[in-house]
Amino acid sequence: MLEDFTPSEAFVPEATAEDPPLLRASGVSHFYGNRVGCQDVSFELWPGEVLAIVGESGSGKSTLLGCLSGRLTPTAGVVEYRMRDQATRNIFDLSEAERRFLARTDWGFVHQDARNGLRMTISAGGNVGERLMAIGNRNYAAIRGEALDWLGRVEIDADRIDDRPEQFSGGMRQRLQIARNLVTGPRLVFMDEPTSGLDVSVQARLLDLLRGLVSDLSLSAIIVTHDLAVARMISHRMMVMRNGTVVESGLTDQILDDPQSAYAQLLVASVLQP
Ligand SMILES: Nc1ncnc2c1ncn2[C@@H]1O[C@H](COP(=O)(O)OP(=O)(O)OP(=O)(O)O)[C@@H](O)[C@H]1O
Ligand SMILES: [Mg+2]
Repeated sequence: MLEDFTPSEAFVPEATAEDPPLLRASGVSHFYGNRVGCQDVSFELWPGEVLAIVGESGSGKSTLLGCLSGRLTPTAGVVEYRMRDQATRNIFDLSEAERRFLARTDWGFVHQDARNGLRMTISAGGNVGERLMAIGNRNYAAIRGEALDWLGRVEIDADRIDDRPEQFSGGMRQRLQIARNLVTGPRLVFMDEPTSGLDVSVQARLLDLLRGLVSDLSLSAIIVTHDLAVARMISHRMMVMRNGTVVESGLTDQILDDPQSAYAQLLVASVLQP
């Protein structure tokens, strides 16, 4: 399974050592009452870099992603983001309105369940156009043109533009969610299990598409997945979580080929020996 997705060519981040990080998490923790969601997570993400967060169910991946994307307030710790004006800000020092604007323009968030990321009862074109209108675009023809362009880029036929997502297949819905997120030209996209729940063949095509878009647009991405093959295919670096903490982090290929921690070894072995 793991080998099926091994990228044929090296997937090299465009970041250089001089670039300051795009996002920096320092000591991020989130507790649900007494229960640990995630604890003391620190890392840096550079422009153009794709980071995978892997780990078993309940290890804290979604909680961490929630904190990083401003959807959950950390119990402790800081998440700093380099804004378009290059100023680095703690996202939790921003006003609610500023954070919402950031989330609508500079960030994308692709949900596991497309129902949480799309408006199921408005048309595909409307779903893409809505994000543009939310940032002030008012020219209907231009919005529709842009929506059409994006549907094409995610391989949805132009004649489906007026169909609603509820009339789409699972794979199409995920592609529409991606179009809706990318239309505003975000610099960072958060994804929580964007391919799980899809057929293996549909999954592979979607990943291929995502990988192409991420590299064409020089996007940074943080992708949560429990699937090491997905991490292998799309990410430069990986963080392995267990019980809310990061037990190993490093280059994806290095961790998958030569895991250091006992837990990562177990995780990799369980995929290689079904
Ligand atoms: N809303 C919540 N209220 C209370 N506890 C929660 C809540 N959400 C998550 N948790 C707990 O926090 C821990 C981490 O959960 P989280 O959803 O972040 O894990 P995950 O790695 O995303 O799991 P999965 O792969 O199943 O999605 C778990 O123990 C979970 O029970
Ligand atoms: Mg989760």
